[in-house]
Amino acid sequence: VPVLAAIETSFDETGLALCDAAGRIRQSLLTSQAATHAPYRGVVPELAARTHLSDLPQLWRQLDPGLRRQISAIGVTAAPGLPGSLLAGISFARGLALACGCPLYPLDHLHGHIFSPFMPVAPPAGAPQQDAAEIMAAIPFPHLALIISGGHTELFLVRSVGEIEILGATLDDAVGELLDKVSALLGLGYPGGAQLELLARGSGALDAEARYHGPWTLPVPMRGSGDLNFSYSGLKTAVVRAVRSAGQSSAPLDPPAQADLVAALFSVICDSLWLKLSTALELYGLRTFTVSGGVAINGFIRTRLALEAQRSGYRAHFPQPRHCLDNAEMMAWLLCLRLLALVPEHDGFPLWGPGRGAGKVEAAARR
Ligand code: KG4
Ligand code: ZN
Repeated sequence: VPVLAAIETSFDETGLALCDAAGRIRQSLLTSQAATHAPYRGVVPELAARTHLSDLPQLWRQLDPGLRRQISAIGVTAAPGLPGSLLAGISFARGLALACGCPLYPLDHLHGHIFSPFMPVAPPAGAPQQDAAEIMAAIPFPHLALIISGGHTELFLVRSVGEIEILGATLDDAVGELLDKVSALLGLGYPGGAQLELLARGSGALDAEARYHGPWTLPVPMRGSGDLNFSYSGLKTAVVRAVRSAGQSSAPLDPPAQADLVAALFSVICDSLWLKLSTALELYGLRTFTVSGGVAINGFIRTRLALEAQRSGYRAHFPQPRHCLDNAEMMAWLLCLRLLALVPEHDGFPLWGPGRGAGKVEAAARR
């Protein structure tokens, strides 16, 4: 039985996953470098690369030897990401491919996120599990894909496994970056999104659709921009101003007021995401969209976008929470789909070189 291996080291997670030809995950290992970077309050690129280099052989040794012997193809995240982190994964993957005598496929990290909502889920007891070919045949092409993470806020038109076109992107901060910065401003930890979600759950100002009803007014970014781009730095400034002016005029924001402000923030983020999603769906005449990436774990965003979709007759697909944050399972699934779809080995992006995503790399390095 052929086994596919995927390596993911684009940022600060080291992932190694094996799946079979039907796309079922056979073994998956993931280590977070959060504790390594915590003292620096942000990811240190040099340290991330070196940690990947030392973690990868350790993960490899933890793989089941029987499965390891059956590996017939290897995929590695080649872009976009931190250059040193990517190079660590690519170098390791090249060595493995030589040792195992199997082909090496460069994979686009964003394509991993884009297809993560379609990963096989465990069927109810007794029911057969769908395999990759069945799932792929059922994926509605073309569809719209929104990626929201710490480094990305991007909208794609997905025509097939190999044909993906970018329609819009953030002009400045990514949604996750906004959340991480607001979290830091309020003295909460990293990653910020999870902390802020917890805080906003304590506010009574959000209704069941994650719409805010309260005293704060925050602007919906890019409302009248007439395009499919996003922008979140203005919203960050608005939150900073709200926090500072409260601190100057009276007492600094107490926890309930903070919770209220963050509730307003999530509501406006939902508004802005749905604004661009619905515009793109209409413009391109699409019925289906996906939302993936680390911020897609968020309960408010999932609830709002799912309800808006339902109301307008669209189909919304979200990944399982374990497949939202960076992981190698989604890359193994992408490799499986690409092999099934016979997408050529080197589909236009360089395995190494300045190439695409350079701006995002810099953005990630600055975080
Ligand atoms: O996809 P990911 O692991 O890394 C990038 O490719 O950037 O996403 C990380 C982002 C961080 O900005 C983090 O704050 C955000 O995901 N995040 C959340 C939640 N948990 C993590 N955002 C909103 N709600 C959450 N519960
Ligand atoms: Zn990612």
